[in-house]
Amino acid sequence: MHYSCKHLKSVTFILTCEYLQLTLLCVTSLELGAGGGLVGLSVAKGCKINGPLYITDQLEMYDLMQHNIALNGLTDRVKGVLLNWGEPLSQEIVDFRPNVILAADCVYFEPAFPLLHKTLGDLFTLCPEATVYFCFKKRRRADMQFMAKAKKAFHVTEIEDDDRSIFSREKLFLYSFTSKR
Ligand SMILES: C[S@@+](CC[C@H](N)C(=O)[O-])C[C@H]1O[C@@H](n2cnc3c(N)ncnc32)[C@H](O)[C@@H]1O
Repeated sequence: MHYSCKHLKSVTFILTCEYLQLTLLCVTSLELGAGGGLVGLSVAKGCKINGPLYITDQLEMYDLMQHNIALNGLTDRVKGVLLNWGEPLSQEIVDFRPNVILAADCVYFEPAFPLLHKTLGDLFTLCPEATVYFCFKKRRRADMQFMAKAKKAFHVTEIEDDDRSIFSREKLFLYSFTSKR
């Protein structure tokens, strides 16, 4: 795995990738807040997926996403796409209709919580059978407010695995979200 990013802070992708290794097959998947694309690119390289994968972020991260896609020889399977949380989904994403959504370390900036929440809701409206794999490191108390709101809007399940106690000590959590509809 080749990766170029100046500010790699998150290790939460490990949880996501290890879990998804077992579960991803026939999917159209989309990563929210991909940053340099570490999670999505790891999934594309390490998991048995046979569908395309979109990694998404804001304009500031676009060139880095494209750079890392090319660096890993994944231009045929992974596409970097702009997706600003809280804004209407682009026609391209509506047409793509992802059924697996990845979000790692996207709960870190309180003003963005409602925007992320709205985008998750929009993605469930688009594809009610979608599953979101949602991984984050709890840094401050407000982070749990995001989860409290998510639990009201979506079915939220904490994913158990053998290493959960280790990750819990580091305040790293992995959940799946599904639609209540
Ligand atoms: C802490 S980084 C996590 C990056 C990557 N998922 C990881 O785990 O290494 C959070 C990412 O969310 C993105 N982000 C923040 N606010 C956003 C918004 N309003 N719309 C889309 N992406 C946003 C940032 O640009 C950043 O890349």
